Amino acid sequence: MSTPIAPMLALTNGFHIPQFGLGTWPMDDATVERAVPTAVEAGYRLFDTAENYENERGVGRGLRAAGVPREELFVTTKFNKKWHSVDGARQACEASLERLDVDYVDLLLIHWPNADQDRYVEAFRGLLELRRDGLVRAVGTSNFTPTHLQRVIDETGTTPEVNQLQLNPYVVQDKGRAFAAQHGIVVQSWSPLSRGPELRSEPVVTELAQRHGRTPAQIVLRWHIELGLVPVPKSEDPQRLRENIAVFDFTLTPEDVAQLSGLDRGNELVLDPETFGH
Ligand SMILES: NC(=O)c1ccc[n+]([C@@H]2O[C@H](COP(=O)([O-])OP(=O)(O)OC[C@H]3O[C@@H](n4cnc5c(N)ncnc54)[C@H](OP(=O)(O)O)[C@@H]3O)[C@@H](O)[C@H]2O)c1
Repeated sequence: MSTPIAPMLALTNGFHIPQFGLGTWPMDDATVERAVPTAVEAGYRLFDTAENYENERGVGRGLRAAGVPREELFVTTKFNKKWHSVDGARQACEASLERLDVDYVDLLLIHWPNADQDRYVEAFRGLLELRRDGLVRAVGTSNFTPTHLQRVIDETGTTPEVNQLQLNPYVVQDKGRAFAAQHGIVVQSWSPLSRGPELRSEPVVTELAQRHGRTPAQIVLRWHIELGLVPVPKSEDPQRLRENIAVFDFTLTPEDVAQLSGLDRGNELVLDPETFGH
């Protein structure tokens, strides 16, 4: 049996989340079914999927093939805007459980606020019922700004345990991270490598890679760890899967972290959660 690699972070509800996961978009069922057991073998225990990725069946099959006890795994999924109601959240959750072929998910996220539709608070009330009924362990949001989160907190009296944000050294999300820190919300980073080669080619990144004897991707991923974030990089390549999670045996200095954060481009690259969503 492989050894889990990432430390566990405490969620406000008493459960714990591995501080590193596998992103699964845009892998299809067949690709993700192959990648997941490789990732488990490499020490991954957190898997990030979504209704919208249309690969939950492949994730479920991959997890079963990996042969690790369910309680050692942390499965996250998300649902689309058509389910933004109390009943809708339940239907979405039950459909995801069926596709994943699991009895519960560890974390269910509202994928986008879809503020124009203005039903995300109802969707969150639905999540709370699912948590009460044991179908989900933790409840969260994705792409929620502090304004959306504050409204959820004010209207339901409950704070989401996790918020997943587009986050990397080009998009440092100062406000989103500060709000999360104030409220005990764990932040997951999507596009933690900023997808393409550009970030990995930045002189700051390549110089730190050389100095620490690491790859550029590892430098960027360690930056997330130093900030207490939970990155979910996607890779379907066995070697890069292993490379990415091998970031728990070195550290960056506060100066290194500050240099990387200096690459921030504000909102230039952000998919705007006020207008984008599905
Ligand atoms: N909540 C949301 O709205 C939302 C939105 C988008 C994504 N996500 C989640 O976040 C995950 C990650 O985000 P992302 O896929 O946008 O971006 P990412 O993880 O930053 O980058 C993925 C890209 O980088 C490549 N890559 C991975 N490791 C590498 C390495 N060590 N060296 C060189 N290239 C490497 C991958 O190719 P290979 O596969 O060929 O290695 C892939 O093309 C997604 O899979 C999904 O689970 C969530």
